[in-house]
Amino acid sequence: MRLPTRSALILSVSECRKIENVALIGFMGTGKSSVGRLAAELLQFTFVDTDEMIETSAGKSVFKIFEEDGESVFRKYERRILADLQSLKRTVISTGGGVGGNEANLTSLKQHALVVCLWASPQIIWNRVRTQTHRPLLQTPDPKAKIHELLVQREPFYRQADILVNTEVRSVREVAQHVVHEFHFAIQHR
Ligand code: S3P
Repeated sequence: MRLPTRSALILSVSECRKIENVALIGFMGTGKSSVGRLAAELLQFTFVDTDEMIETSAGKSVFKIFEEDGESVFRKYERRILADLQSLKRTVISTGGGVGGNEANLTSLKQHALVVCLWASPQIIWNRVRTQTHRPLLQTPDPKAKIHELLVQREPFYRQADILVNTEVRSVREVAQHVVHEFHFAIQHR
């Protein structure tokens, strides 16, 4: 899998887009929640996390939803939450890794947000998530292969983000500052 050659790349902020929010998409372990929290603080925006919204709505953890109800039920929750996001303003939205992995979700996010994909290679992702146990999709005999498989499936969708930011050699603060800069640029030039 190729990494973007530039650290950030404006791909498609079409004219007249309504951009009220920032939506962070990208694979598990790319830092969406940490970057999102800091970017929200820097912008003086509210921060929301789609996984947390789902957990509140379901009354149980993402892990338990996968375990007790299955992935398809979790994806239904995601779609429902995405519809609720449409009315948000001045909000940084961190999404679960699967959200940016399909066309309909991307279209929905682009209706109100600048969509920023945080990027890292499979090896870096593996290094970041290998000791964590809360990710249901990685509870398999070969989690490294699962990361590769999911990244291959999702890459064409992740690449449709307005902005791609390589997180490999940047601190959370540097990535968040970059996101804030791109947001200001996008709202001035839309
Ligand atoms: C998922 C990523 C997780 C969470 C769920 C499914 C995915 O979120 O939504 O376990 O499909 O990649 P993070 O990306 O925050 O780990």
